[in-house]
This record gives sequence, C-alpha cells and structure tokens, in this order.
Amino acid sequence: MNNTHPIGVFDSGVGGFTVVRAIRNALPLETLRYLGDTARVPYGTKSPDVVRRYAINCSRFLVDLGAKILVIACNTASAYAVDAVREHFALPVVGVIEPGARLAAATTQNGRIGVIGTEGTIRSASYQRALSRLAPKAAVHALACPLFVPLAEEGMVDHPATRMIAEEYLEPLLAQGIDTLVLGCTHYPLLAPLLGEIVGDNVTIIDSAIAVADAVRAALHGAGLAATARSDQDLYYATDVSERVLRVGSVFLGDGLDKVELIDL
Ligand code: DGL
Repeated sequence: MNNTHPIGVFDSGVGGFTVVRAIRNALPLETLRYLGDTARVPYGTKSPDVVRRYAINCSRFLVDLGAKILVIACNTASAYAVDAVREHFALPVVGVIEPGARLAAATTQNGRIGVIGTEGTIRSASYQRALSRLAPKAAVHALACPLFVPLAEEGMVDHPATRMIAEEYLEPLLAQGIDTLVLGCTHYPLLAPLLGEIVGDNVTIIDSAIAVADAVRAALHGAGLAATARSDQDLYYATDVSERVLRVGSVFLGDGLDKVELIDL
C-alpha cells in the first residue's frame, strides 16, 4: 500500500456524493473511487444484519480496487457496520457518525443537540452513544425523518411541500430548545438551506461531510498515506446505472457526472 492508492468511498446510493464533494475540496491531490449501491438503496429501512452484509460487499469491492482507506459515506451503514468493516479489512476506516458527533459536541453552547437521520440510523442510537461519550452533559434529541430522502432525490429541495414536512418534523426538536442540528444522513445537506430557514440563526446546522473530510485527512496523515501529487482521475461505480442515478447523482456531486460504471457485487 502506498500514498498513490485511491480513497475508497461508498454509500447506499448517490447521497454519498455530498461526502465526495467535501473530500475533493479538502484533499484535491487525492484520487477517489466511489461506489453507490444503487440497486439496493435504501439502506435506511433495512435490518442491521443486511446493512452489515451490504457494507462488507461494498468495502470488498473497493479494497480489491486498491483502496488505501475506506470511507463509509452513509450514516446508516456507518451506524450498523463500521465495526464489522474494521474487523474485516486491515486498513483505516472512516465512518460519518463519529466526525459529525465530534463537530456537534464542539459546536453546542447550550448542550441541546438535535440529530435527524433515517429510521435505521436513529434506531441504532449511534449518534446518541457517540454524543454521550463526546458531550456527556448534552441532551440529545434524535428524530427519524424518512420523507427527506425521497424529497431530496426528487430535487424538491425548496418545494412548499418539503417546507411543510420539514416544519412538522423539526417542531418537536425546536420545542426542546436545540442550538445544534446534526444532518445525520447523506441526503440532507441538499436540504440544508431550507432547514436553515426553518430552524433560524440560533441553531447551527452540522453537515458531517466537512467533518468527514477532516477525519480522512487526519487518518491519511496518521498512516503516512497522504498523496503528494494527483496520480489518476476519480472513478465512479454503481450497482445500477439508470438515467435517474446519473441525474440525481450530478445534483449531489454538484458537478457533471458523465460516466458511472455498472458493476455487480
Ligand atoms: N445514505 C443513507 C444514509 O446516509 C440514506 C439513504 C438510504 O436510506 O440508504 O443514511
């Protein structure tokens, strides 16, 4: 393994492109290999054992491509499978929960933190556990917002219906007086402007993608694996490549997505 090898990133679908975007901005010399398990998305409603099995499949594919580090760019897979992936593969593994929780713990002033995510992520209590370690005095209010994933995928990021749903979802968290809101799902950063309008200036929104990019940088430096020059172009893979995957994927990536290679796990 040497520093010219790529960073392997996977998600249940195209939401992980929000993490790819943050890593590309923070670490422009690194080469990325991204796998979206678009044939099996969503993970957020699936049982823990199934999500773990899928996460191992995705990791195996990226390890076989020569990944020097694995980034689980999916909150649900991070919640259920980060330990299993670490046990299976002898390379650094970065999930999205720990970096996001760390940033939230450092941000809150009043110790009231809201976390929103898929049903799986919230049910796993992974953010709640991480925050009770990182900010033991904080009160954590966690809430599943299952409609946000399809709304983001439909591009309804500033639609009145999305606003109504978001107001309904967030009302109980705001009633608890939170000053920090963790976007515990890779799809939610697309909704951040709308959510920001609803929660107002007194609540800081935590987009864990940026915290993840910092964690990847630290892990690469710690392992002596940081690239010193760009060695290759980024490549994208998916288990289903439809017009929708390309269209929605380019919205999440914030850039043209001209080629995604279809693979079978
Ligand atoms: N990528 C998932 C997450 O961050 C959201 C989509 C899904 O349910 O698979 O939890």
